Amino acid sequence: MTQTNLFRNRPVAVIGAGVMGIGIVQVALLAGHPVHLYDVREGAATAAAGQLGATLAKLADKGKLTPEDVAAARGRLSVASSLNELRDAALVIEAIVENLAVKQALMRDLEAIVPHDCVLASNTSSLSITAVARGLQVPGRVVGMHFFNPVPLMRLVEVVSGLATEPAVADAIAMLAADWGKAAVHTRSTPGFIVNRIARPFYAETLALLQEQAATPAVLDACVRGAGFRMGPCELMDLIGHDTNFAVTQSVYEANFFDKRYQPSLVQREMVDGGLLGRKSGRGFYRYPDGGAKTEDGAVEAAAMPGVPLVLHGEGPIADLLASRLAASGLGFARESAREGTETRLAVGDGWLMPTDGRCATERANALGARDVALFDWPVGPAAAGSATPVVPLAWTVATQASADFATQAAEVLRALGWLPQRLTDVPGLVVARTIAMLVNEASDAVEQGVCNAAGADAAMTLGVNYPVGPFAWLAQIGAPATVRLLDALDAFYRGERYRVSPRLRRATWTASPTSAAA
Ligand code: NAI
Repeated sequence: MTQTNLFRNRPVAVIGAGVMGIGIVQVALLAGHPVHLYDVREGAATAAAGQLGATLAKLADKGKLTPEDVAAARGRLSVASSLNELRDAALVIEAIVENLAVKQALMRDLEAIVPHDCVLASNTSSLSITAVARGLQVPGRVVGMHFFNPVPLMRLVEVVSGLATEPAVADAIAMLAADWGKAAVHTRSTPGFIVNRIARPFYAETLALLQEQAATPAVLDACVRGAGFRMGPCELMDLIGHDTNFAVTQSVYEANFFDKRYQPSLVQREMVDGGLLGRKSGRGFYRYPDGGAKTEDGAVEAAAMPGVPLVLHGEGPIADLLASRLAASGLGFARESAREGTETRLAVGDGWLMPTDGRCATERANALGARDVALFDWPVGPAAAGSATPVVPLAWTVATQASADFATQAAEVLRALGWLPQRLTDVPGLVVARTIAMLVNEASDAVEQGVCNAAGADAAMTLGVNYPVGPFAWLAQIGAPATVRLLDALDAFYRGERYRVSPRLRRATWTASPTSAAA
């Protein structure tokens, strides 16, 4: 591992003066590098330099930079009119059009110009670094340096190694990224790298639920926010743009030889085809009349106290949470003495209210020989907080054969326990449970396949897409057995490739220790 930043204060060249290129230039300049900026489009680099100057001036106005810093940074920037002017670069970062042939041609051209020890980095978000380096005389110096948008604000950089990338080159780039104030995470060149791969189920599960008409986008978003995510999947897809989000999903799907696990959604394609691209087009899942806030929000159901006897069975974190919330609610309840192996369930009169285990409520009612069964989602993050304030949305559902009175009682109990019950149709795994289980599963496969380690996956997902915690932190909370039980139940219900359990996760059920401990 390199101990010092080999690039400190040395010239950096950025190629491509688009949204990413400008951001990278800003970061490199403020870190003290002389920076060359080149763009093939006439006038583009000069215009970008002007735009950057204005950004730096604004930062000075806000007191975030001194006028001297700004003047020095501007003085270090030069606009190159040809690739030949990049010949003193210690590092070239390309942020040009996302096209393999164009990037390969650029790398070949650069080889003839830059010094033999100059590192060639690509900001590609979807192309293989192995392929970008193909045919070069020194492919070992090509590495992925995948920034996130907006570059000056997003802390994550995925450092991507292709088959030929020299480990010392990847280490040196990680060290440089750290010096630039970024958190560098190493990854192998595989489709979607870390973030764009592990994040797929976050969108896919909600899109699948929408296709099954489980609930409205507002209800699903509210439930997912209740688990601690800053934004629900629908509002996030609206923000990213459905065209971009769909293109990433499609690229990961195709790059995985059409593995059904990554299959894009018809719901989203219809929106793309119709130009419902989200905020940028004024309409996606929500409407944005003036590019402003969305106009709908989650449903809130009325509260009423149930008048039925409540008996809590089972042990474990969810049973304990129910017990503490029942005690705080003032509802009278009895607790059956906890016996190992007893599943967590709350008797509500003659019916049962239980956390989801991945089977639908109708199936569980059938298995129990009961009629009245309701299920609620995994309480995770804010929804798992011991106290009932703030009130947090929680998905729930009821068996087809349940009576309407029981459904009302179950919702009232959830409400009395301090949640905002959000009713879904009887879909297995509800929304938070299936989404988190699938994120954990994808992350487990990424580690199993050597794409990254567990700590890297957690860092990437918290820093790259602002997840409240990383997948392996969830796994440590929930445990491999419950996660795998849920996925196996989904797999049995839907019968397809989508819910295939990661070998690493399956193995972890037999040691019953978190996967993170073994990574
Ligand atoms: P952009 O379209 O805003 O800018 C690309 C720039 O590259 C344009 O100014 C274009 O004139 C220039 N260019 C195209 N071909 C060139 C060539 N052969 N030589 C020199 N300049 C050339 O694109 P954006 O969004 O900045 O993306 C750039 C790269 O960064 C792509 O590989 C993209 O996948 C990747 N990326 C984009 C992210 C995003 O959120 N936009 C996030 C992370 C990576």
